[in-house]
Amino acid sequence: MLSAQEIIDYKKDYFFPNAMHFYKNPPHITRGEGKYLYDDSGKRYLDFFAGVTVVNCGHCNPEINAKVKAQLDQLQHTSIIYLTEPSVLLAKKLSHILPGDIQHTFFCCSGTEANEGALLLARLHTGKKGFISFEGGLHGRSALTMSVTGIPMWRIDPFLDPDVYFAKGFGGDETRSEDSLKSVEAILKEHGHEIAACIVEPIQGNGGINIPSKIFFKKLKSLLSKYDVLLIADEVQTGFARTGKMFAVEHFEVIPDILTGAKALGNGVPVGFFSATPAVAASFNKPSASTLGGNPVSMNAGLAVIDFIEEHNLINKTASLGEYMLQKLKELESNYDAVISTRGLGLMLGMTLETPEKVDILLEKAKDSGFIVGKNGMNRDVVAFQPPLIIEREDIDNLIDCLHDILRDL
Ligand SMILES: Cc1ncc(COP(=O)(O)O)c(C=O)c1O
Repeated sequence: MLSAQEIIDYKKDYFFPNAMHFYKNPPHITRGEGKYLYDDSGKRYLDFFAGVTVVNCGHCNPEINAKVKAQLDQLQHTSIIYLTEPSVLLAKKLSHILPGDIQHTFFCCSGTEANEGALLLARLHTGKKGFISFEGGLHGRSALTMSVTGIPMWRIDPFLDPDVYFAKGFGGDETRSEDSLKSVEAILKEHGHEIAACIVEPIQGNGGINIPSKIFFKKLKSLLSKYDVLLIADEVQTGFARTGKMFAVEHFEVIPDILTGAKALGNGVPVGFFSATPAVAASFNKPSASTLGGNPVSMNAGLAVIDFIEEHNLINKTASLGEYMLQKLKELESNYDAVISTRGLGLMLGMTLETPEKVDILLEKAKDSGFIVGKNGMNRDVVAFQPPLIIEREDIDNLIDCLHDILRDL
């Protein structure tokens, strides 16, 4: 088996130089089971990042994987141009759990592709070209989704789409949400007639776990509708029980015109989708197909994930574990100067530290103590806690004890 150092060397030799990894001394992860990851020495880590918010139902979940394996052995691929059952069953299931009258779905393979498709759909429906997005939002790596991404470090294409207008970021106090809405209004006044859609993460993940005010989305939707601008909710990170609701927009009692998802729907199997109301979906009527989107294996994974979330009551469990953990993080905030702020909804929680360097030290020490946590934020100064939703209270207590030890010396 390759050592961790050999893997780093291979990456240098055979990947592009853009390849990166967390940690000065990264472990070589060889196994996952439930809430745990294991490295090549057999060391166990409690995973509080879930592979960047993917394995909501736990690593190598046996109930889900049994269904995925059965499908692998029965029919792996034909492409959506042939008739297969799992894709239509998943589309039907999604229509039941998606907010409001969102009913029609197009399947693809990643969050980027889902958002790219949603933006295209908005252009087809409105006949307009431009987009509004928010500072601090992340929507993907393709030309258009990178263009609507509002985090400078992820906007690496020197020739991004010029028809994107950035509204101010939200998160923090009410005033920031209000300022953000004012900036949307100003953009609409000047460019509303040329804007197809506004794309937004209900809670910004990569931007640092930024939560808008309770009323933000209602006000946003009403502003947009005056100019026939569609609302696209990017739920790639927030979807499938992560925030204590099936979809995070439900916290804000708003029904978007288009909703996108990926990550947790597959619990590790690649999948993506965008879904829309009948009126909007009707505009996507020219032929379009994704070779692997809607493949029976990913579709069966999606069906199994939703069943698992429902059967194990993960929505309510996540809401109450999240409240408990947030209260524990608030205690850290009041005890240590290095902690600037904490926030979260469900098990999507963030803790801003004084500097990005302190975040890196904390990540390394937590990993050495057997805890994997994430990092994000515009300045990479936010510690992110987004564990598999199958964790227990005692896992939170153990992590918090470890964070006390680290923060005391930071
Ligand atoms: C909110 C959001 N949208 C889109 C993406 C892009 O998804 P993918 O990496 O599956 O292309 C991500 C990835 O982290 C994300 O967090």
